Amino acid sequence: MSLLELEGVRRHYRQKHTMFAKAGHSPVRAVDGVDFHVDESETVGLVGESGCGKSTLARIICGLEAPSEGAVRWDGAEVAAMRPADRARVLHREVQMVFQDPHASLDPRRSIGQSVAEGIETHRLLPGNRIAGRVQDLLAQVGLNPDHADRYPHEFSGGQLQRVGIARALAVEPRLLVCDEPVSALDISVRAQVLNLLNRLKRELGLSMVFIAHDLDVVQHMSDRIVTMYLGKVVEDGDCDDVYERTGHPYTRALLSAIPRKLAPGERLERVVLEGDPPSPIDPPAGCPFHTRCYAAIDRCATDVPVLRPIPGEPARHRASCHLADEISRSRVGQVQTVADPSF
Ligand SMILES: Nc1ncnc2c1ncn2[C@@H]1O[C@H](COP(=O)(O)OP(=O)(O)O)[C@@H](O)[C@H]1O
Ligand SMILES: [Mg+2]
Repeated sequence: MSLLELEGVRRHYRQKHTMFAKAGHSPVRAVDGVDFHVDESETVGLVGESGCGKSTLARIICGLEAPSEGAVRWDGAEVAAMRPADRARVLHREVQMVFQDPHASLDPRRSIGQSVAEGIETHRLLPGNRIAGRVQDLLAQVGLNPDHADRYPHEFSGGQLQRVGIARALAVEPRLLVCDEPVSALDISVRAQVLNLLNRLKRELGLSMVFIAHDLDVVQHMSDRIVTMYLGKVVEDGDCDDVYERTGHPYTRALLSAIPRKLAPGERLERVVLEGDPPSPIDPPAGCPFHTRCYAAIDRCATDVPVLRPIPGEPARHRASCHLADEISRSRVGQVQTVADPSF
C-alpha cells in the first residue's frame, strides 16, 4: 500500500470573466484526472512546464485545496472521509510543504526561531521548556547557526531562508515533504547546497518526498521515480533510470533534451525543440493533448486520446500515455549518444 495515493483527481477552476470569454463557461482544467502515488521513503520528481498543474496537485496533496473530483488516500484511508482529528494530523503534521518563495512563506514579524517553533507549539509536541533546545537542533540540522534563532527573516539570504522553511517543516516530524520548486527562486550558486541538504535529510530521516520542478535537470539526482505532467495530466511515470534511459513520451524527451550540457568528443545529441507555449487548459486539443507540439505525431494522435499504460518491453511500472510509446522508448532522440567513430 502506498503512503499517498491519488485516484482520478481533478481540479477545475471556474474561469474569471475576461475580455475574450464570459465567466462560467468552460472551466480551467488545472488538474484533469490524475492517478499518482508516493511510497514510504520514496522521492517522486514531478515535472512539467509552468501552468501544467504541478502546484495545484501539490496543494491538493497538502489539503490546501479540495479536489473537484477523485480520491486522496493516506495510508489507504480516504482523507475526505477521516474524522476531523485524523485529517488534521495528516494534513497539518504528516504532510508538510516547502514553498518556492521562502520570503513569502515566513512571517517577517516573527523571529525564525518563533516560526520554527510554531508547529511544535500548535501540536503540543514538547513541553515548553524543551522547545528552544529543539529549535536549535533543527537549525543545526539544516546547516544554520543555532544561535541565530532570535534573528528575523530580513537578516537572512534566500538560501538561508529556504533552510529555515525546511526546518519549520521538519519541526512537526512529517512523513511526506512536498517541495514545490524549492530552488527555482534561489541564486544558482546556492541551489546545489539546498538540494544536497534535502537529499541528506530524506536519507537520514527516511522521509518520503514529492519534489516539483519545471525541468528534468534538478530532479534527476533527487528522485527515485519521475512523473511528467502536461496540461493537467500525467503523461509518463516510471523509475528514474527507466524514464531517463528509455523515455516513453515525446514530451519527456523534449524536457530531457533541454537539460543544459556540454557534449564531449564522440558524443551526439539529437535535440527536440519545444516550440511555443502549451495550449490553454481551458480548451485542450482533441486527441492527445500534446499532439500540437509533438515531433512524432501521426494522424491518429489528433483524434484518439492515449491512456497512461505500461510501455511494451519495459518494467510494468514504467507507463506513458502515447500511441507510439513503444517506438519512442527505443529511440535515442533527446539523449546523449556515444558515436563509435568520432569523425562521424
Ligand atoms: N486559483 C486559480 N484560479 C483559476 N485558475 C488557476 C488557479 N490556480 C491555478 N490556475 C490555473 O491552473 C493551471 C495550473 O496552474 P498551476 O497548478 O499553478 O501550474 P504549475 O504549478 O505547473 O505552474 C494554470 O493554467 C493556472 O493559470
Ligand atoms: Mg507551480
